[in-house]
Amino acid sequence: MAVLIDGNSLAAQIREEVQAEVAQLRDSSGVVPGLNLLLVGDDPASAVYVRNKGKDCEKVGITSTILRLPDTATEQEVLDIVRTWNDDASVHGILVQLPLPKHINEHRVINAISPLKDVDGFHPENAGKVMIGLDGFIPCTPYGVLEMLRRYNIETSGKHAVVVGRSNIVGKPLSILLAQKRSPGNATVTICHTGTPNIAEYTRTADILISAVGSHGVITKDHVKPGAVVIDVGINRITLPDGTTKLVGDVLFDEVEPIAQAITPVPGGVGPMTRAMLLRNTLTSAQRVGGKQ
Ligand SMILES: NC(=O)c1ccc[n+]([C@@H]2O[C@H](COP(=O)([O-])OP(=O)(O)OC[C@H]3O[C@@H](n4cnc5c(N)ncnc54)[C@H](OP(=O)(O)O)[C@@H]3O)[C@@H](O)[C@H]2O)c1
Repeated sequence: MAVLIDGNSLAAQIREEVQAEVAQLRDSSGVVPGLNLLLVGDDPASAVYVRNKGKDCEKVGITSTILRLPDTATEQEVLDIVRTWNDDASVHGILVQLPLPKHINEHRVINAISPLKDVDGFHPENAGKVMIGLDGFIPCTPYGVLEMLRRYNIETSGKHAVVVGRSNIVGKPLSILLAQKRSPGNATVTICHTGTPNIAEYTRTADILISAVGSHGVITKDHVKPGAVVIDVGINRITLPDGTTKLVGDVLFDEVEPIAQAITPVPGGVGPMTRAMLLRNTLTSAQRVGGKQ
């Protein structure tokens, strides 16, 4: 039976650590970390994500402000808000919830966020820093996965890590981070995607297999080497025969778990870690202002 990598309890631990450091920062420098969140449009899932991020902030003493704009908002309005927040010293983190309505260019909006407040780690400057191993903001999901590996003492050095998925927010940065000469890292990394003819050929050789695809069942037991560590980033909603829906990952958990060394569940795996690392990034930003870093 595999070790269950418990994202909920790790995230709770990280929130406690952040909460203690937030209090310390406030007491020593008077700086209270602040995260501003912008939600454009009325996508219900995005609204829930933003609300949850705000609640997470409250729990640890980070001030959060949520601004909602209708989906008729113009790109210029969004850019103006971002720039106002860039210049506001009480704002340490800026998060624009994606996806944006189609008439707004996401790249232009992300590029407008000050890299020093880009706690999602999506700005090209932060992406570049991840690439060359400099301190910037690591996107929250890859950062959460690294923390899971670190806190469960999973050795990555010298191992073969296979990452399925090459998105700019998960697969690509995670692959680069796992290959960096640091810990966790120093792995030999293979990236698979829709252009990979037979992904099982690669995934079966993975000591650490990470799936960030967004398709339930893309990883079966035939894709996994016995004894591998399996990290499931995917979040998919499926409909059960009785008509109810359920959140599941990319991995067929029930058949992979018996052969894995360790595995993350969905829900309760990478998801809560992503939320926790947003708090960590916001705190880090405020600590830079408060003189700690
Ligand atoms: N747990 C969390 O906190 C968290 C955070 C972010 C995302 N997610 C979830 O993680 C999943 C991935 O998110 P994302 O934003 O990275 O998605 P994305 O931008 O859609 O990227 C998916 C990647 O998977 C690749 N892919 C798709 N089908 C494939 C297949 N059959 N075989 C091999 N590769 C395949 C795509 O290849 P191409 O590049 O060739 O198209 C693409 O690179 C989603 O389920 C998302 O909801 C979870």
